[in-house]
Amino acid sequence: MKAGQAGKLPARKQVELALHESEAQYSLLFNRMMDGFALCEVVCDDQGNALDYRFIQVNPAFEKLTGVPVSEVIGRCSGEIWENPSPEWTERCCKIGLDGGQILEERYFARFDRYYYGSLFQTRKGRFAMLFHDVTEEHLAQKYLRDTRDYLETLIQNTTAPIVVWDGELVIAFVNSAFEQLTHYSAADLIGQPAGMLFSSSMQASLEQTCCGENWLNLELPLLGRSGETLDTLWNTSTIKNEDGTINAVIAQGQDISALKKAENATRRQLDRLAALRDIDTAINTNLPLSEVLSIILDKAAEQLGADAATILLYEPHSQRLEYLVERGFSHPILESLHLSDSAAGRVVVSRSVVELHLPESERQFKRKGLSEAGFCCYLGVPLITKDVVKGVLEIFLRHAAPKDCDWRDYLATLAGQAAIAFENRELWRNAQENHNSLLLTYDDTIRGWAHALELRDVETQGHSQRVTDMTLVLGLRLGLRGEALINVHRGALLHDIGKMGIPDSILLKPGPLTEDEWKIMRRHPVYAYDLLLTIEFLKPALDIPYSHHERWDGQGYPRGLRGEEIPLPARIFSVVDVWDALRSDRPYRRGWPDEEVRAYLKAQAGVQFDPLIVEHFLNLGL
Ligand code: C2E
Ligand code: SIN
Ligand code: SIN
Ligand code: FE
Ligand code: FE
Repeated sequence: MKAGQAGKLPARKQVELALHESEAQYSLLFNRMMDGFALCEVVCDDQGNALDYRFIQVNPAFEKLTGVPVSEVIGRCSGEIWENPSPEWTERCCKIGLDGGQILEERYFARFDRYYYGSLFQTRKGRFAMLFHDVTEEHLAQKYLRDTRDYLETLIQNTTAPIVVWDGELVIAFVNSAFEQLTHYSAADLIGQPAGMLFSSSMQASLEQTCCGENWLNLELPLLGRSGETLDTLWNTSTIKNEDGTINAVIAQGQDISALKKAENATRRQLDRLAALRDIDTAINTNLPLSEVLSIILDKAAEQLGADAATILLYEPHSQRLEYLVERGFSHPILESLHLSDSAAGRVVVSRSVVELHLPESERQFKRKGLSEAGFCCYLGVPLITKDVVKGVLEIFLRHAAPKDCDWRDYLATLAGQAAIAFENRELWRNAQENHNSLLLTYDDTIRGWAHALELRDVETQGHSQRVTDMTLVLGLRLGLRGEALINVHRGALLHDIGKMGIPDSILLKPGPLTEDEWKIMRRHPVYAYDLLLTIEFLKPALDIPYSHHERWDGQGYPRGLRGEEIPLPARIFSVVDVWDALRSDRPYRRGWPDEEVRAYLKAQAGVQFDPLIVEHFLNLGL
């Protein structure tokens, strides 16, 4: 239809045309629109009360929405179409039709399992129109969002992981309840505050980096709680970016690792304590002096138990006194001993159990003054018991209350046990030394007895053994013999002719020269000595002289015919002294020689019968 033609048509026709055009447009709209549309008429009883409404016209979209064909709807009442129309809804519809007004609301139609946004309005008295817009998709999308948010919120609030969210400006935007519990802050305390208040200032740079998109992964980073306490926590962060790439939020998720830390520290402490015990064991086993072992024990008490001062006292049962053996941590050393009856340590000995005292209330029990001025507030005394006898006391002074934990107390008991072992070891050692020494004395008495018995038989050699022994020791010292070697020279010299015990009187005491057969027997005396002494463990190392004192430098001696330095040094020394003393003395077979001749003989035999160096040293003694 062209505008130019309109003017030429009669007015009625024009109106008709216009109506027609509008109707066509309406019909187009009506049939094509996506929303369901229905035109309805209120049905009343004789008194004009609304009973129901009847469909006058519905569009294809309505049919599509409801699934009821248009042909079945037109002219029917809602009660005839729907199985169970809600009377309340029917009433509201009729009221709009009769009185005007409108309804705009979302409705869920269970029948269709869909959501509609409905709009109801009066078209003229007794009629109304229904317009239904299907909002199921929007509704589901929203519900999905709502549900998701609920899930996340539930998750975040119920997880045991503390979570904090801050924005790109490092302002705290959210904390969950685990975070509140951990830090003892409430969400209200934190939201809007700088994130830095939760972390030590040294972490500020790290915090800022998270706002540049750098994430933390298992970053161990102590959190500051409300009362300033440090909380051992491990953190992961992730950042949420805006569309333009700027940081919208940083989500930090933590893990409370204080239990882990505590376990780790406990393990480390136990290992340290074990290592400390090993140190003490080593000190005990290497026979360090008792005071050094006890010092190490006090070191460990300080290191491992945090003892601020400590002492170890030895209990002397005869005097009923306790003597300080070691102490540390006091500004004024006290060396005065304590009596059993008037000291805390004495109470430990008497009760044979741990005594724990609080200072300053108990300070009068201590001779040491100024304990509480020095800040000590706790005393523990532990008895050192070995074989059921109290040997001493380990005392510990603390500037804090004694820990209640079993580990600490067990360790204190262990240290006391080690100190007791150190005491016991020293006693064992001392007893062993005493036994050893007294045994040696007995042995040496025996040796002297033998030597003397020998001299009694061989009357003319009286005093010979002791003289040659003394001289051999002097010469041995000159030639560098010391310690054990000298002790064995001593014993060997005393016993040098012990083998003569096996020589019959007829030979030994013969006034004249020996026959060849007699010599054979006489030359056995070093072998007799060897056989005899070899069976006595502690005389074995003293065999050199008895066995080898008749060997000669030129190899012509007996019993083995050793030569030069093959002959043990003690025997080389001794033979010079022995011949010197034998020649000066009367023998059953000859008179003693004058000194000059003896010296001349030794000089002449140097390098023949004797080691020349030893002869030289001997003559230099100026005898
Ligand atoms: P002894 O009397 O104690 O003598 C020890 C050593 O001193 C002798 O070892 C020898 O090296 C030296 N000596 C002692 N007297 C003389 C001596 O008059 N001249 C020289 N040149 N050296 C002397 P030896 O010779 O192996 O004798 C071992 C032991 O045999 C002697 O111990 C002694 O008990 C015994 N003996 C040695 N010669 C005689 C002897 O002529 N008559 C008897 N009855 N016994 C003898
Ligand atoms: C309506 O009355 O148009 C909807 C039917 C219902 O109550 O389910
Ligand atoms: C004690 O009296 O048991 C020892 C304390 C002290 O005098 O130092
Ligand atoms: Fe001899
Ligand atoms: Fe001799």
